Amino acid sequence: MALLESEAKLIRKTWAPVQSSKDSWPRLFVIFFSKAPEAQKKFKSFESVPLSELPANKRLKAHAASVVTLLSGIIDFLDDPETMIEMIENMATRHHKRNIPISIFNALGESVIDFLKEMNPGKFDDEAVAAWTKLYSALVSVVKAEFEKLDNKK
Ligand code: HEM
Repeated sequence: MALLESEAKLIRKTWAPVQSSKDSWPRLFVIFFSKAPEAQKKFKSFESVPLSELPANKRLKAHAASVVTLLSGIIDFLDDPETMIEMIENMATRHHKRNIPISIFNALGESVIDFLKEMNPGKFDDEAVAAWTKLYSALVSVVKAEFEKLDNKK
């Protein structure tokens, strides 16, 4: 995956408001679970918590922090694709046993973009959407390849 420097810059710039606003992180999951209600069922500790109560749920807050922190780590390594791919493969390995269809990974990608639009009001233009779509599609390709590798080992 080769991101242009201009794309990497745009990704870092639009991610910055997310990193500096911890209180917003559960919102990503409210968007995600409204788009893909089946995803919420994978989280036993808050599978039946109503969406309106999720932002205050401490387990969801902790989970949102893990996901955002890993995404921040990936973004820190945009200029080192080898390490970045290794980070994504590790995440995929840990998710394989959870039986998450790739379609749900794609729904999370759409949610990340919707969330970024909210976090960068009026500033998340087509170019930003294209840069994030490129990064997230690359992430999904790595996850898919890792899942297939692990499926073949079964
Ligand atoms: C960009 C994609 C994703 C990232 C960066 C990510 C990151 C993480 C991290 C860092 C953890 C905690 C460590 C671990 O147990 O692996 C985790 C746990 C988990 N993730 Fe993801 N994840 C992603 C996609 C998904 C998707 C699409 C689902 C679908 C429902 C999902 C479901 C889960 C579940 C069920 C857990 C365990 C939660 C718990 O009970 O502690 N993840 N994820």
